[in-house]
Amino acid sequence: MRIASVVGARPQFVKAAPVSRALRAAGNEEILVHSGQHYDRGMSDVFFDQLGVPEPDYNLGVGSSSHGRMTGAMLGVLEELFIEVAPDLVLVYGDTNTTLAAGLAAAKLVIPVAHVEAGLRSFERSMPEEVNRVLVDHLSDLLFCPTGVAAANLATEGVTAGVHVVGDVMIDTLRVFAERAETEAVTATCGVEPDGYYLATVHRASNTDEPVALARIIDAFAALGSPVLWAVHPRTRSRLTADAALSRRLEVATLVRAIDPQPYLETVALLGGARALLTDSGGMQKEAYFLGVPCVTLRNETEWVETVETGWNTLVGTDPGRIVAAAREARRPAERPPVYGDGHAAERIARIIGG
Ligand code: UD1
Repeated sequence: MRIASVVGARPQFVKAAPVSRALRAAGNEEILVHSGQHYDRGMSDVFFDQLGVPEPDYNLGVGSSSHGRMTGAMLGVLEELFIEVAPDLVLVYGDTNTTLAAGLAAAKLVIPVAHVEAGLRSFERSMPEEVNRVLVDHLSDLLFCPTGVAAANLATEGVTAGVHVVGDVMIDTLRVFAERAETEAVTATCGVEPDGYYLATVHRASNTDEPVALARIIDAFAALGSPVLWAVHPRTRSRLTADAALSRRLEVATLVRAIDPQPYLETVALLGGARALLTDSGGMQKEAYFLGVPCVTLRNETEWVETVETGWNTLVGTDPGRIVAAAREARRPAERPPVYGDGHAAERIARIIGG
């Protein structure tokens, strides 16, 4: 089969790595397309290098901009590309604007669409990602769900054909790469002790585009009384730089260390050594779970409900008191069932696609 896989944002490189390997091993012809949504070396190339994702056959260089402009620009070029390449299937990942543009371009050309990480719901329609995932799920022919909860969400919306619960492909990547992560070395480079710091990431529009929310988050990090290593996404960095009051707040928070976005192995190393993760990322909630690190989620809802139900994740929004209490009280429950599969989701996906 000729399969066009479309990626564009950082977590999609992590998801595509095992699937691409499995599809090619099964004898498919994979055409890898990078939309260009993430373009900094540290947000893109280093992930391809570390994870051994093949060089994209096409890089559309669309780059991020406003939602409509970005999605529309991708839609146009992807349509042309799909006409030229004539894939038998278009494979999309997760919930970004790249996912929506590729799914929509393919569906309009009546090319079958396969969605990896189908069925996730936050039930919060103000989140751009929620809109993307709902639409893509409804135009996909094959829907690869990480969990039974995701498949049940689809059933509630009347989507039952082509649905397969395969496990989570991010766990496939972690299974292979976690042992290569060098926590001692990376924590030493960052000037922290294993288990003596919190790792933080913040990039959701609802947190970054709201100065009040960002200020509350910084205040909470500053009040923790232990080092907080904050890997700052470019979106967040530009908000912090543009706002003198926020910059000043961060400057006086001496235990909060704002570092650049980290490559995959360094992220896994820092996560593995952290007392807890403070994040609004989706993927990192699962990665923390897999590595046995408690998570404090800076949102009021999560798609990854299993992490909360098992006691490994606490939803706190941006209330400083709740963030501090949850982080200080973060414990490691005795049980950590393999709710995201066995790390072989990609092979299942390749088998199903291969018929
Ligand atoms: C996007 C996804 C989000 C995903 C995240 C992973 C959408 C709607 N959101 O959010 O679901 O969790 O990627 O990181 O698709 N920027 C750079 N360099 C880069 C990339 C981005 O400077 O390489 C800056 C730009 O100023 C850009 C901003 O970051 O405007 C936001 O990038 P964008 O891709 O729009 O959204 P993310 O917040 O990264």
